[in-house]
Amino acid sequence: MKKECSGKRFGTKAIWAGTHHIEGSVVTPIFNSSTYELTDDIYQGWKEGAQHTLLYSRISSVNSEAVSSKVAILEAAEDGEMFDSGMSAISTTLLALLSNGDHMVGSADMYGGAYGLITEEFPRFGIEATMADIRDPASYEAAIKNNTKLLYVETITNPVLKVCDLEAMAAIAKKHNLIAICDNTFASPWACNPIAMGFDLVIHSASKYLGGHSDLIGGLVVGNKQLISDIFSKKITMGGAADPHMCYLLERGIRTLHVRMPTHAQNAAELARRLDVHPMIESVNHCSLPDYPDYEVAQRIIPKGSGMLSYVVKGGNEAALHYLRRLEFVFEATSLGGVESLAECPFNTSHMFMPEEVRTELGIVPGFVRMSVGIEDVEDLWEDMDQALKATKTFINS
Ligand SMILES: Cc1ncc(COP(=O)(O)O)c(C=O)c1O
Repeated sequence: MKKECSGKRFGTKAIWAGTHHIEGSVVTPIFNSSTYELTDDIYQGWKEGAQHTLLYSRISSVNSEAVSSKVAILEAAEDGEMFDSGMSAISTTLLALLSNGDHMVGSADMYGGAYGLITEEFPRFGIEATMADIRDPASYEAAIKNNTKLLYVETITNPVLKVCDLEAMAAIAKKHNLIAICDNTFASPWACNPIAMGFDLVIHSASKYLGGHSDLIGGLVVGNKQLISDIFSKKITMGGAADPHMCYLLERGIRTLHVRMPTHAQNAAELARRLDVHPMIESVNHCSLPDYPDYEVAQRIIPKGSGMLSYVVKGGNEAALHYLRRLEFVFEATSLGGVESLAECPFNTSHMFMPEEVRTELGIVPGFVRMSVGIEDVEDLWEDMDQALKATKTFINS
């Protein structure tokens, strides 16, 4: 039995939407079956395109159906497809919509994996891309050519946390009849709904805030029904099917998204305020700081805030690494969006292979630290960070 969620508000939908109440179960049970009985209905569904048909688990499973419809509802989207990773969602989506001879516009500020796919792999398939300035929608418009098919942005970029003016970008896409795609991973559907601002498709690495507990790898694309159907038809040949266990964990994680996210955002804003006046800190990037360059845009696009924070430790990369290693419980690790705080230096992780001059141009200067602020007690976080900064001061002065 599948009950529909009649609640209208985000928290109610995060808990109830999409759940498959099988045999009266409160949560969607894990369905391990790799294949399903071929009935007349299934044959009919297969003839009509097979999307959402329980036929074979690479095509669809009870658990992937439950969680993709939950995220589609939270993003105010018509439909959605679940993948085994965020990169799988990105690559399948772009390869479904672009062909030899097509062009797209993106930004060098995007997630490194997506940037590598577009700049290093796509030329092999005759797909061209121009990288524009995420802070300047006019630069995206100027990059549009006769063969441009889509615009690709991220709501909040990694690791400088630039906030994209999604309304302006969607208007440009509409004016030029292009598909507008937004990776909303850093914001989450709690903070921002790009579809309500005019985007056609929204992508998530579910491995981050949606899962929320650093215990799964998954991805989704949600949006316009016809586009999702086109992407689905390529997904079944490309093969990025999501495992039912992962979908179960993801569904469980999303049920507390609206409870976790305000604490991530409040903790990050409080730490940003304190770091901003710390003698060991050169600069801080957070959308809550009134002197942050994207403050005005952020007030419109992500008014509830963000749990992602970045800052520059005085003394360069050596000092930043020393600081990370003196942290007592904040983990030095890549990834983000879990309940626990993680910090890393992009120069030796996500942006290791980017030439130093490009890093500097993007704002990733020596001493740069990216932090995914967790939902621990903020006073404990501050004590840990402050003692590590004090130890780093002694280190650079010695
Ligand atoms: C913004 C963003 N998009 C996509 C991805 C890729 O997601 P996954 O690691 O689940 O493949 C990441 C991973 O860090 C990311 O940060």
